[in-house]
Amino acid sequence: MNTDSTDLDRLHAAVRREKADLEPGREPAPLWVMFLFMIIAIVAGGQLGPMTGGWSFSVSNPFSLARHGDPRPGGGAGAGATDPFQTAMKKGSSGYAVCGGCHQGSGTGIPGQYPPLAGSEWVNGGTERLIRVVQHGLVGQVTVAGQNYNFPGGMQPFGAAMSAGDLANVLTYIRNTWGNEGTMITKEMVEKVRKDESARAKQWTQAELESFASANVPGEIPAGPGATVAAEAAPAK
Ligand code: HEC
Repeated sequence: MNTDSTDLDRLHAAVRREKADLEPGREPAPLWVMFLFMIIAIVAGGQLGPMTGGWSFSVSNPFSLARHGDPRPGGGAGAGATDPFQTAMKKGSSGYAVCGGCHQGSGTGIPGQYPPLAGSEWVNGGTERLIRVVQHGLVGQVTVAGQNYNFPGGMQPFGAAMSAGDLANVLTYIRNTWGNEGTMITKEMVEKVRKDESARAKQWTQAELESFASANVPGEIPAGPGATVAAEAAPAK
């Protein structure tokens, strides 16, 4: 008897716990689905940042000093953060890693192999020749700062591997480092040379570029330090 009533109690408790049948398709989603969505949201969120055209907290931050200028005397550490020349120099210095393996971090190159960029008339001279060299490459004997170089295979073109903006930043950087002083090279200038020479597949030779040695690609240079360095200040070697 006793055992009977306990059984019945257990049975009733079980029946009471039962919920009404849910309609098909309206059952709660299993826990793993929630976790899956959480992972997707985290990964997608991480992607969104880099894909929204260089969004960064320091740009969108309404309290950013770089945006509003630093009221402290001298401008504080935020000064110059939005200066196009400083920005190009900063990006160019990291972009230069591509070139540094051969031309060295010091810009001196390696005697007999890689010509120097420091004090090079190719770097400090006209922007037209410089952009062409890096865009399409250079082959055959070249004279740089009085020394001859003729590296087997020459220098490969970098036009396909680098965006116009990255190339412009690196060129601005090499024109204003190691004692070099030159005008800024803008993305638009690189784009213009790319368009003008889109059919070019071969590397350049020194002779082909001779006539561009002091030619500058037309284009506006943002006001600031990169614009004030007069092109004629470059050594006319
Ligand atoms: C794999 C080695 C190598 C890399 C990487 C390289 N260069 Fe060169 N570069 C050379 C060589 C070699 C020459 C000379 C070509 C010749 O002998 O015809 C040269 C020539 C030049 C010249 C003309 C001569 C001078 O010294 O001013 C410039 C300017 C130049 N390179 C810039 C760059 C830039 C900018 C980069 C990076 C985007 C770069 N190079 C990456 C090997 C390299």
